[in-house]
Amino acid sequence: MHPGSIGILDSGVGGLTVVKEVMRQLPMESILYIGDSARCPYGPRPAEEVRRFTYQMIHFLLQFDPKMIVIACNTATSVVLEEAKHWLKIPVIGVIEPGARAAIRESKSGKIGVIGTQGTIKSGMYEKVLTRIKPGLNVVSQACPNLVPLVEDDEVSVDVALQVVQEELSPLIHQGVETLVLGCTHYPIIAPIIQQVMGEEVSLISSAEETASEVSAVLSENHLLATPEKAVHHQFYTTGDPFSFKRIAEKWLERSVEVRAVHLPVLDIKEVIRL
Ligand code: DGL
Repeated sequence: MHPGSIGILDSGVGGLTVVKEVMRQLPMESILYIGDSARCPYGPRPAEEVRRFTYQMIHFLLQFDPKMIVIACNTATSVVLEEAKHWLKIPVIGVIEPGARAAIRESKSGKIGVIGTQGTIKSGMYEKVLTRIKPGLNVVSQACPNLVPLVEDDEVSVDVALQVVQEELSPLIHQGVETLVLGCTHYPIIAPIIQQVMGEEVSLISSAEETASEVSAVLSENHLLATPEKAVHHQFYTTGDPFSFKRIAEKWLERSVEVRAVHLPVLDIKEVIRL
């Protein structure tokens, strides 16, 4: 056990895009990661199922006594963040608000595109948060259900992915968005291909950087930042194939990582909330 880590969760490898930024901005912090690759994608699943799976991951992380939790999955953020804030005794943040803030900072025309999973787009969460922060924005959303499997299966070479990305983004291409929010944490891994399809003039927004800044602010406000005497220790768990997870993680994070397989037991949500 390494208490005091930052717990980070996602439906699979997408949350690694947030991990990379946390490692860059907060190199003294230890990370405890769980990716539910065995049940990824979450995007097409009913909200109640996403809630149940996400609580299983939160329950898993809590056993290690983390100091905060980052729901590094837009789909899970849209379903459970507000509720989890109420019952968790440690700070918890999601990725939608940081992504929205970054997009508003970048946008000049006020016309913002958002791409995400079916769950995230259906929830309308980005529109809600974007227009709450800045009323009057023109938000165009598009669900891209076929992008997550490309990343999870590590089929991210331009040859394989280009056609799929083109098909998924085609409804957006001529809509005149100049800022596009990558509203799924898997998407930054294929950002160069998305950029190629959208054109160089479109700014792509990943929530990773802003989320890591929020982690830093939350830890600092709560006097929870790691001190130099404490050794850094990262732990990665997946419900899927640890070898495949390790290959993707090492490529993306540009460092070697140890990955353990885990089975998440079925549990009663009421039990988790009472913890
Ligand atoms: N990374 C998750 C997100 O940000 C992926 C979603 C999925 O599992 O479909 O929404």
